[in-house]
Amino acid sequence: KTVGILISGRGSNMMALVEAGIPVALVASDKPDAAGLGWARGRGIATFALSPKGIGKAAYEAQLDAALREAGCEVIALAGYMRLLSDAFVARWRDRIVNIHPSLLPKYKGLDTHARAITAGDAVAGCSVHIVTEELDGGALLGQAEVPVLAGDTPDTLAARVLAAEHRLYPQILKEFVTR
Ligand code: GRF
Repeated sequence: KTVGILISGRGSNMMALVEAGIPVALVASDKPDAAGLGWARGRGIATFALSPKGIGKAAYEAQLDAALREAGCEVIALAGYMRLLSDAFVARWRDRIVNIHPSLLPKYKGLDTHARAITAGDAVAGCSVHIVTEELDGGALLGQAEVPVLAGDTPDTLAARVLAAEHRLYPQILKEFVTR
């Protein structure tokens, strides 16, 4: 199955997916200046960039949906996409949207996962790949990877360790998902 990747920024997970040979038909962003877009274009991958600002969420999502369908995408992979998809959008792509989240779900849904893991005194942190449903970071888990939390970790040092695990986990899980 062909994948559309949604990003909002750096796009390092998107790069890991492309480099792993996942068939990516479109990289789309809600932030027209997202750094990952230039990288994708440089790889000859079609891109779509549109901000919902000014046009509203419904019009934005309608254009995003059309771009994904026109590119032939059958699966959507969220990779640092920092916007909530509407219930209607999720319903149109039911069980065909996956996300990577930087915590061991169901722990630490939402933002600031690494600071919360450190504050809680957790010895283990990690990342999760899951199906996207209407509930934020709440859909069925497809896979997880663990990393240790080390003495002296800051949210940044822990984030870097988790991100390296994300770059291994996401391509592995998505490969299984698109071929099943
Ligand atoms: C990753 O940690 C991802 O899990 C989270 O946001 C970060 C995005 O990084 N949702 P990148 O844009 O893939 O480099």
